Amino acid sequence: KKLLLLNGPNLNLLGTREPHVYGSTTLADVEQAAIAQAKAAGAELDFFQSNHEGALIDRIHAARTEGVDAIVINPAGLTHTSVALRDALAGVAIPFIEVHISNVHQREAFRHHSYLSGIATGVICGLGVEGYRLGIEYALKKL
Ligand code: DQA
Repeated sequence: KKLLLLNGPNLNLLGTREPHVYGSTTLADVEQAAIAQAKAAGAELDFFQSNHEGALIDRIHAARTEGVDAIVINPAGLTHTSVALRDALAGVAIPFIEVHISNVHQREAFRHHSYLSGIATGVICGLGVEGYRLGIEYALKKL
């Protein structure tokens, strides 16, 4: 089984970015834990973070060629703005889980809508970086 972990804009700053909202775990910590988690289940996991919408879209297209079985994605700010990211995920037809570290529904109204949720297998939000682990666990078992 092959998984892809994607992180969108500004998540490279995880650990130092608004730690009261996003915690102190770094993206490198999240990615290394994800690799270990997949490996322990006999699966493969690749990860990618970009601050650029097009780079994320290109990575999603490549995932189809690579035969990726499932994607776990924190689209970050693009969640609330990007029809193109939704179209890319719909286009490759790879099942995906949407993860948000914070509880977006507790925050500003502009964070309440996601362009991705309607086509996601499931959405995890508000459980901190634990959400990545839970999303990967589900993808490993079910997708
Ligand atoms: C986020 C929530 C988004 O609203 C925000 O733009 C982010 C991170 C989260 O993980 O809680 O960058 O996706």
